[in-house]
Amino acid sequence: MILFFTAIIAFHQDVVDATISKSMYMNWGAHQSVISGDNLQLVLDQYSGSGAQSKRAFLFGSIEMLIKLVPGNSAGTVTAYYLSSTGSKHDEIDFEFLGNVSGQPFIIHTNIYTQGNGSREQQFYPWFDPTADFHNYTIHWNPTEVVWYIDSLPIRVFRNYENEGIAYPNKQGMRTYTSLWNADNWATRGGLVKIDWKSAPFIARLSKFRARACKWDGPVSASLCAAKTLTNWWTSPVYSRLSDAKMGQLKWVRDNHMIYDYCKDTKRFNGQLPPECFKQQF
Ligand SMILES: *[C@@H]1O[C@H](CO)[C@@H](O)[C@H](O)[C@H]1NC(C)=O
Ligand SMILES: *[C@@H]1O[C@H](CO)[C@@H](O)[C@H](O)[C@H]1NC(C)=O
Ligand SMILES: *[C@@H]1O[C@H](CO)[C@@H](O)[C@H](O)[C@H]1NC(C)=O
Repeated sequence: MILFFTAIIAFHQDVVDATISKSMYMNWGAHQSVISGDNLQLVLDQYSGSGAQSKRAFLFGSIEMLIKLVPGNSAGTVTAYYLSSTGSKHDEIDFEFLGNVSGQPFIIHTNIYTQGNGSREQQFYPWFDPTADFHNYTIHWNPTEVVWYIDSLPIRVFRNYENEGIAYPNKQGMRTYTSLWNADNWATRGGLVKIDWKSAPFIARLSKFRARACKWDGPVSASLCAAKTLTNWWTSPVYSRLSDAKMGQLKWVRDNHMIYDYCKDTKRFNGQLPPECFKQQF
């Protein structure tokens, strides 16, 4: 096996450079999951889930992954794909996919942590069957906003209001992580629906991880990656705000497919919604 892969890498050095097997490694449950070429297969059974992470950390850019979620009865499973820095004041940008019983929709769960603070969940039902094919889950992240995309449709925006005292993720490099795990204490109907191990092993497939992003080389990167230069394409004014067309798509997704928004959950925050909820969000 090892010899075989080495030969491929040596032969296609330039192409392989960008593949998953070159840019990520398994950090959990490696015995049962597979990274090969541009594909990554995450497996969950009674004994273990599994996960992988990028070798590099990034600050700003476009982080793309094609994902085909666990088919059939996936209740109680969670597939996660996210960016995160480390430490107690960490930043994190999340896509999580909460499984469901056969034939019923997954929940696409998003969140963002800044300086260790999260609790900014927004959830959506997919408008497609996420288990039938690969779909493109992309995070665009630049000094002015973070945008979550599915198949190039923006579903969520988090804008930078740092000058108004709202922390923004722009000083810590983040690695990309993905994992498949047992979350049946909360994932499906608040934990009521447990994993049916008769359907195990559960398999999520990922492919074509691409980080068109600024490589994090320590604190100096905070200014280098934010500098308005041609190589830092994400700093171009085009990416500082969604176009009217993209704004229309965002509205369509939110009007028709959004099922939870923390900015509307006054009860949860005892009437004190987080400050960004009062800003122009898009
Ligand atoms: C984190 O959230 C708490 C509670 O909302 C708030 O008091 C605190 O100031 C926040 N910290 C930062 C760094 O934003
Ligand atoms: C995934 O979506 C992003 C954002 O729209 C796009 O830039 C990228 O080309 C897409 N990748 C693939 C493989 O379709
Ligand atoms: C599962 O499907 C049911 C029926 O559509 C829905 O009520 C529920 O919110 C779905 N998702 C989860 C994670 O339970």
